[in-house]
Amino acid sequence: MAEQTNEQIAQTLVFPYLNQAVKFLQDEYATATDIDNGMRFGCGYPAGPLAYLDSVGPAVVRDALAARFAETGDNLHKPVALLEKVADEGGSFTGGGGAANAPVPAFKHDITTIGVVGTGTMASGIVQVFAQAGYDVVFVGRSQDKLDGVVGYITKNLDRAIAKGKGTEEDKAAVLGRLTGSSDRAALAGVDLVIEAIAEDLAIKTELFKDLDAILEPGAILATTTSSLPITQLAETTSRPSDVIGMHFFNPAPVMKLVEIVTTVHTSAEVDETVKALTAKVGKVGVSCGDRSGFIVNALLFPYLNDAIKLAESGAELGTIDAAIKEQVGFPMGPFELLDVVGNDVSLAIEKELYAEFKEPGLAPAATLERKVAEGKLGRKTGEGFHTY
Ligand code: CAA
Repeated sequence: MAEQTNEQIAQTLVFPYLNQAVKFLQDEYATATDIDNGMRFGCGYPAGPLAYLDSVGPAVVRDALAARFAETGDNLHKPVALLEKVADEGGSFTGGGGAANAPVPAFKHDITTIGVVGTGTMASGIVQVFAQAGYDVVFVGRSQDKLDGVVGYITKNLDRAIAKGKGTEEDKAAVLGRLTGSSDRAALAGVDLVIEAIAEDLAIKTELFKDLDAILEPGAILATTTSSLPITQLAETTSRPSDVIGMHFFNPAPVMKLVEIVTTVHTSAEVDETVKALTAKVGKVGVSCGDRSGFIVNALLFPYLNDAIKLAESGAELGTIDAAIKEQVGFPMGPFELLDVVGNDVSLAIEKELYAEFKEPGLAPAATLERKVAEGKLGRKTGEGFHTY
């Protein structure tokens, strides 16, 4: 295959992602504002896909995709009907100003104490977010060592902020003073909302939800950070499915401003609104979506990451692809840098879920990703993934 220019690499990887974003809008799965906010605040992109598509020109993107579809026959390259329509009409996807009148969400429940279950990277970051916003946080882990790890993670982040002149020792003491760690789930009995961020395994989460259902008071909200499991099914294992909701944070949680707020058919409007209000109160941007594999962001992000691996399999250099993406579209990390941050095991799990749900041959996980996981080359956390650390 002839070597591609940086512009061609960016188009190869980014245009199908734009097409998919239009498909979400066409399906009325999410609003244009939420689709764009999802990618801006979840992944740090300078613009969301629909605004970016408008800036390139819907007809330009449509024509490039149509030419590619003629070559590949891959459905993911076929311009979706709404893209065809907007391109034909010379219209645009953004700029309607519809979001300006969106009502400001209000708390329908009193939320003063937050519970977090888990002690990994996501859980630690989430504990930090709520403690920094002034909430008392009770967090539960399996051992004192793991609980100490959460405090260590937050202390390190706050020390880094102090070193940069962005915080004081007093702020740090106040944040740490709001934390209560426990290895006993019963410590969560009095909290108003629990966020679970434990292993991404339905059996493990189901056991936890049943237990939390017994421990928490009536009216307490149960939120999950799952990125790939069916929240509806989790909700149905409790006696309070209307109080169960998804709050999907992004890595690193203290930095990425997005929370995907995922409602199921059971979630009550009051719980949805309270979680929206809480998300805003802790300085995050909430977007709403339904309980579908990948929600908004992962369903747009991971096919693009998978395509990048397939492009590398066809001969392109990893460093060249990373550089092309950062230079041409201004994403903060190239696809291989991001894969190594997310972890190849996590990426493979998400890609398998997307492939199973949407059944598009183009979504089949790249062979190299399967191989990296089998070899234990999971990314930064193991010292080697696509790049070496
Ligand atoms: N914890 C806390 N704070 C951190 C941090 C961490 N792990 N890493 C960086 N920061 C802070 C820094 O302290 C710095 O703060 P200030 O601006 O207040 O000084 C800020 O973040 C920027 O950091 P740096 O200057 O060191 O680095 P950078 O400019 O290269 O930015 C980045 C780092 C914010 C991670 C940026 O590269 C980025 O936005 N990357 C994209 C990440 C992304 O796409 N995440 C989503 C992954 S998908 C996912 O999470 C969903 C899923 O289900 C798998």
